[in-house]
Amino acid sequence: MCGIFGAISTQSVTPSLLEGLNALSYRGYDSSGLVVGGETGLQLRRSEGKIDNLVKLLGNSPLDGGIGIAHTRWATHGDCSTRNAHPHMTADVAVVHNGIIENYQSLRAEMSAEGMTFESDTDSEVIPVMVSFYLAQGMAPQQALYQSLSRLEGSYAIAAIFSSQPDRLYAARKDSSLIIAQGQAGIMLASDVVALGNSAELICPLTDGQLAVIASEGVRLYQTTAQNTQIQIDNIPWQPAPKLDVADGKQGFEHFMLKEIYEQGDVIERILNHYLDINGRQLNTGLQPGQSAAIEALNIVACGTSYYAACTARYWLESIAGIPTDTDLASEFRYRNRPMSSHTSNLFISQSGETADTLAALRYAKAIGCPCLSMNNVPTSTMALESDTILPTLAGPEIGVASTKAFMAQLTVLLLLSIDCARHNGSMDFDQELSLIKALHELPSLFHRQLLTQEPIIRLAQMMATSDHALFIGRGQAWPLAQEGALKLKEISYIHAEAYAAGELKHGPIALVDEQMPVVVIAPPDELQPKTLSNLREVASRGGKIILIADSQAIEASSEFITAAIPMPQVDPVLFPLLYTLPLQLLAYHVAKEKGLDIDKPRNLAKSVTVE
Ligand code: F6R
Repeated sequence: MCGIFGAISTQSVTPSLLEGLNALSYRGYDSSGLVVGGETGLQLRRSEGKIDNLVKLLGNSPLDGGIGIAHTRWATHGDCSTRNAHPHMTADVAVVHNGIIENYQSLRAEMSAEGMTFESDTDSEVIPVMVSFYLAQGMAPQQALYQSLSRLEGSYAIAAIFSSQPDRLYAARKDSSLIIAQGQAGIMLASDVVALGNSAELICPLTDGQLAVIASEGVRLYQTTAQNTQIQIDNIPWQPAPKLDVADGKQGFEHFMLKEIYEQGDVIERILNHYLDINGRQLNTGLQPGQSAAIEALNIVACGTSYYAACTARYWLESIAGIPTDTDLASEFRYRNRPMSSHTSNLFISQSGETADTLAALRYAKAIGCPCLSMNNVPTSTMALESDTILPTLAGPEIGVASTKAFMAQLTVLLLLSIDCARHNGSMDFDQELSLIKALHELPSLFHRQLLTQEPIIRLAQMMATSDHALFIGRGQAWPLAQEGALKLKEISYIHAEAYAAGELKHGPIALVDEQMPVVVIAPPDELQPKTLSNLREVASRGGKIILIADSQAIEASSEFITAAIPMPQVDPVLFPLLYTLPLQLLAYHVAKEKGLDIDKPRNLAKSVTVE
């Protein structure tokens, strides 16, 4: 994780470094720091916690200069103190790093034995220390850096400035994204194009094994060869910078998360406009003709919320399109040597497109020669670039760390994919398709009405805010929703929440139920509802505080057993997952708000998980 930003300009780079860091703060906000090169050499400022603390520090002791590197940290090695904040510096060089140096302990021991000293507990500090060591052996800066990088195991994107060359930025990557950009204001580098805003004109995403030397006159790019030497690349592969849909503030909402929850109806409409023909009837997912028909079985791989979208889609793909579907957590899939032939179709879901485990899973499948489809919200992401086909989710930038509209967008595109596959393999007729599309078009107005009636959820949130634990249960598609609901609650309200398939409850977890335990029961009116409502009674018999999310009839029929209810409107049963996601998001939001927590930047989390 962590975010890196660097800049060279004829003006002071401090404002653009801070702007870049703010845009990258979704990658971590445990600490931040920068080094600026000016008339007095390289100057360092670092601060624990959010970037605001660094801004305050700079307010008290400003820095100006035409070159700088900056970092926002998600701690992996060492606590969240200023001492462990980046940049890490020796007298010779300052370095910012994103990734994990897996062999740092042995390198650190080796450097310590050579008499080198360390000031932090991080894996990253070994890079500047090793560079200093090689400089002392007589190597030139670029050679010392290259030699140090060649000793690293693990992943890195780094940027460095040498005290002896305060007009040059060095940048390199292995398994961690880094982009160089040219704009009116100078040359920049960033972990993600999002941080470049719309000020970049040309970009050059570095590839593994590349090292860039950046000066105000221009960029030189080197590539490591198979013989482990470096050759200079003469023609830098610049490409036009993408026009970014930049998040436009909170627009009057108290939090980005709430704003993004409200945007979900618009997101669904945007997706329908993109994937449907001009009459809004015929679906085109953009898969090559025959590609969706050729999917005989599908393997979906993802992490976190994206994984719950995958688990939800499994029910659609199997029941609507008759496609046997497996779902896998990317962190497990990549190491379990799953037997696969080059005909196994894979779908990798990641809103950021940078999640380390999902990316590694994609690369594993590609190496076998499998067709790789990916579903991303960032069209310039590494996964989007490396996939055979991309299904964009078009949610727009999501700033709240806990995903809401990106999840809704994933569900919508996955449903359209299921419909597309069903049409191509003949398991859905045109009328059924039209009726589902029509129902999807009506969903935004149902969302709108639900958002107008949040009172029951707010009252419920006041009750739940005092709980230490909660259970979420559901059957069928309501089970992955229960998992997503529990994840949202724990992420932003820090309440321990577990989800179970309702039928599993009496195989152990029901032992947890007592008068203190809120149990959120998700029971849409489908063929499994009677069974879920029986499970509800079993919980009620043991004193659990039941919160029922269901249609009014089910709520009425269960009224004597429940503590609270969230009534849901009727909708085509295929669309339950989309509709029933909304109250779960609102519940988590209002509980966290009731507890006065930092909803958009919950503790310990980062939005893009670029380390495994
Ligand atoms: C939770 C959340 C995470 C992400 C997960 C995967 O609200 O957002 O669980 O879903 O880290 O991220 P992506 O989708 O970027 O691969």
